[in-house]
Amino acid sequence: MVIDQVDVVGIAASDRAGLGENVWDIFRPASETGEVIDRIAKGSRPPRWHGRRIGEARTARTGGDLLTHDEKTFRRRKVTNGISAHAIANQRHLFDIPDEVAYLNCAYMGPLMHSVVEAGDRGVREKARPWGISPDDFFAPGERAREQFARIIGGDAEGVALVPSASYGLSCAARNIDVAPGARLVVLAEQFPSIFYTWREVAKTRGASLVTVARPEDDDWTRATLDAIDERTASVALPHCHWTDGGYLDLVRIGARCREVGAVLVLDLTQSAGALRFDAGAVRPDYVVCAGYKWLLGPYSLGFLWVAPEHRDGRPIEFNWIARAGSEDFAHLIDYRDDYQPGARRFDVGERSNFILVPMLNAALEQILTWGVGAIEVTLARRTADIAVRAARLGLSSAPAALRAGHFLGLRFPNGELPAGLLPALAGERVHVSVRGASMRVTPHLYNTGEDVDRLFAALERVLD
Ligand SMILES: Cc1ncc(COP(=O)(O)O)c(C=O)c1O
Repeated sequence: MVIDQVDVVGIAASDRAGLGENVWDIFRPASETGEVIDRIAKGSRPPRWHGRRIGEARTARTGGDLLTHDEKTFRRRKVTNGISAHAIANQRHLFDIPDEVAYLNCAYMGPLMHSVVEAGDRGVREKARPWGISPDDFFAPGERAREQFARIIGGDAEGVALVPSASYGLSCAARNIDVAPGARLVVLAEQFPSIFYTWREVAKTRGASLVTVARPEDDDWTRATLDAIDERTASVALPHCHWTDGGYLDLVRIGARCREVGAVLVLDLTQSAGALRFDAGAVRPDYVVCAGYKWLLGPYSLGFLWVAPEHRDGRPIEFNWIARAGSEDFAHLIDYRDDYQPGARRFDVGERSNFILVPMLNAALEQILTWGVGAIEVTLARRTADIAVRAARLGLSSAPAALRAGHFLGLRFPNGELPAGLLPALAGERVHVSVRGASMRVTPHLYNTGEDVDRLFAALERVLD
């Protein structure tokens, strides 16, 4: 608890400071006695996260229980992917969010930054005067989007296809997986419908059975999922965190188990990519899909499919002109060809060169890469830890921090019952969250301030009164 209070102070201090620069240091032991303070590292390089020193600091403060769950999780992830953890000061100035709006609903839809809106405006204007649109404009922006998304997930740009939705990417994966009759397809209980329906269809058409991992009472989705995978499993389709409440899955362990039993691993990172570190090199999935309009802060109707090298010769679900080799040469498109553009480009949706959406998504990805996914994750984890502690005082619970994704908080009401009229009451006070299943999702981003959180709790207290 002491540690969480430090989090609260740190976040609020950064908001109050309204810093021009975007990096500040937290949890630095100030002295050998282990005092923990928040320091603003103005203009300095992002500090490295030194788990050992943090551990020492906790010993002094807590007298034994070294780290909060969050910090244990960060430390473990740092060890696996070597990304430093620092936090980012408030970025609301980059967004079009009025002061009186507490938008804590990125899981529903990410807002667009000014830079993204401007890119879209430019795209609309260019389409108004199409004589300025060159053949190269059909290709270069899309290539940039592939590269940027690849950096976000630790994959390669060659493996990235541009798709309109997560479900489109899932259909590409479903079409190309080998499923023998009687095989098992593993999904999670209460998983996002696009996954559930796609995999139920695969099960029906190929004579396989859908195995649903029940919601674990202890919130340990990793263990529950590992228990469900065996030699009969043909595919496992998972998120990095559950879309209802942020329940976390250790995809490195699950990926290793899938390889052991020869199961295809299909991931939907729509609720995590851009805000939760992911390393395709460590997880080694077969397919990754991601809609772009949530944590990637992009427009609606454009997302990504990443395909592992061994599946890049698969069969697309549509047969459009631009996916074919030589499509850059518009004069010779009538010379039909059987071969495709290299990499995973064969899976691109028709009209994937969208002159409005692609530049918008590129602008959003550029900013995310500038912030750094690790820094976003750490900053949002501090924020959700603060919210979880304050919610607990009102009797609302959440998954333990080590078992949920840092950026994503699902709050549970006593007896699992949501108060009647909860969402309209909060929206009436311009506080925006969402409900999925029994969970109230509170999903902040870098535009949220301490005041937003105060307003959430002021509104919640009135509802619960
Ligand atoms: C986990 C998850 N996947 C995918 C989507 C979107 O799916 P689609 O792009 O198929 O509409 C959502 C939207 O809420 C989601 O939460």
